[in-house]
Amino acid sequence: MAEKTFKYVILGGGVAAEREKERSFVVVYWDKEIEKAEKQKYEGYAAREFAKQGVKPGELAIISKELVAPYERPALSKAYLFPESPARLPGFHVCVGSGGERLLPEWYAEKGIALILGTEIVKADLASKTLISAAGESFKYHVLIIATGSSVIKLTDFGVQGADSKNICYLREVDDADKLVEIIKQKKNGKVVIVGGGYIGLELSAVMKLNNLDVCMVYPEPWCMPRLFTAGIAAFYEGYYANKGIKIIKGTVAVGFTSDANGEVKEVKLKDGRVLEADIVVVGVGGRPLTGLFKGQVEEEKGGIKTDSSFKSSVHDVYAVGDVATFPMKIYNEMRRVEHVDHARKSAEHAVKAIFASEGGKSFEEYDYLPFFYSRSFNLSWQFYGDNVGETVLFGDNSPTSENPKFGTYWIKEGKIVGAFLESGTPEENKAIAKVARVQPPAESLDQLAKEGLTFACKI
Ligand code: FDA
Ligand code: NAD
Repeated sequence: MAEKTFKYVILGGGVAAEREKERSFVVVYWDKEIEKAEKQKYEGYAAREFAKQGVKPGELAIISKELVAPYERPALSKAYLFPESPARLPGFHVCVGSGGERLLPEWYAEKGIALILGTEIVKADLASKTLISAAGESFKYHVLIIATGSSVIKLTDFGVQGADSKNICYLREVDDADKLVEIIKQKKNGKVVIVGGGYIGLELSAVMKLNNLDVCMVYPEPWCMPRLFTAGIAAFYEGYYANKGIKIIKGTVAVGFTSDANGEVKEVKLKDGRVLEADIVVVGVGGRPLTGLFKGQVEEEKGGIKTDSSFKSSVHDVYAVGDVATFPMKIYNEMRRVEHVDHARKSAEHAVKAIFASEGGKSFEEYDYLPFFYSRSFNLSWQFYGDNVGETVLFGDNSPTSENPKFGTYWIKEGKIVGAFLESGTPEENKAIAKVARVQPPAESLDQLAKEGLTFACKI
């Protein structure tokens, strides 16, 4: 079989392989977001950063098992599933909507960057710097950037009875989204059970409702998105979703499925004994970083590949970025892994800059990341910055029946505000809460903070 050699290889054609220039790509397919789009400029993404740093034609390859050039994965759980004017490739290849260049396959060709698609790497030998594909091709590299992202956790992994029935869906890649689109068409006005109350659960429930399906969410925790939301924040979203006609069943899990004669899912059996009818089931019970190829070859920590502040792993010339990297989060002096797109983009860019600096015999600044997470559903849009630890203060109008709800939460640890959440913020307001999380101002009185709310952030 053929052997190809590249100076640099990025393994994974996902988000970290590229970066949007401006975090407003969503405008193209989400008109309402136009005013809200955060005009925060970034300088590039891994491949573009390579181009900017002067990578020569033939030196860089991106290897991906997906069949399409890198795209904005967040679109898959939002505009891709809209019933009207859905987003479709090539519309949301990276940089769209930003006023920046959209990176179509031609861009990579023009730059002499090999986009090796539909190619799954099944073996990685870091000692001999070799990657082997499922088809037996061999790729040699001098520098490797691991950007394999995450895979979905499946109910079949836990042996849930009937979990392999047809129309039980997961969402990670564009192929999964295409499958879901087809099923939505087949099951018009049908019943959907959404298993999981995290990001996928909340975004998919909303978009399924927009498709006029009858939606019921099931999750084990006392409230949705427990890894970030407080009870006060969650109460708003649960009330809002209920008002949209979405049923919510909390405190139990799916323990089995029955199917019809075609093998299509028919019922979801819950641990508490209830049985729900279902034409479609969407499961969002978490992700798992894809590090398996490198097990035993590279140091790991907290489920990810351990890196330094330049995303260099324990193995020389091997870097890890995005979902798979466990990196020093300088602001909290702690090793952390982040499964969100903002970090995927920034870590990719940082790693490339660090690689070129090191080749030039220079050191490069440490990655100093402020966690940023966001989500959108219906007319809602929230942003969170910082750390969700310590006491909390809820402020603003969080009534789910409000015409214009706007509320937020501060997290206070050791007398300082370390995290801030805001629903329906303007770009300026979102910038203000980001600044609070970065600056960590003292919070003298929690009552006063609750009263001042957003005004406090806008003064910082
Ligand atoms: P990513 O998963 O993007 O890319 C990994 C790539 O590597 C994939 O193309 C995969 O096929 C490929 N690959 C893996 N193993 C391989 C192998 N062995 N051989 C070849 N190729 C291989 N975040 C956020 O902040 N806001 C949001 O709104 C959303 N929305 C959202 C929606 C949906 C549906 C998902 C699944 C995820 C999000 N996220 C998100 C999370 C965000 O998309 C995620 O954190 C980044 O995509 C991570 O980027 P990476 O490049 O690390 O992995
Ligand atoms: P998640 O971790 O956000 O949520 C998983 C949810 O499933 C939790 O509420 C969990 O308790 C629940 N759960 C676990 N086991 C269950 C069971 N047996 N039955 C019912 N519920 C169960 O994960 P996700 O929503 O699956 O998202 C997957 C990945 O995609 C994550 O990396 C996430 O960050 C990413 N994502 C991010 C966004 C965003 O940032 N806006 C949007 C979509 C996806």
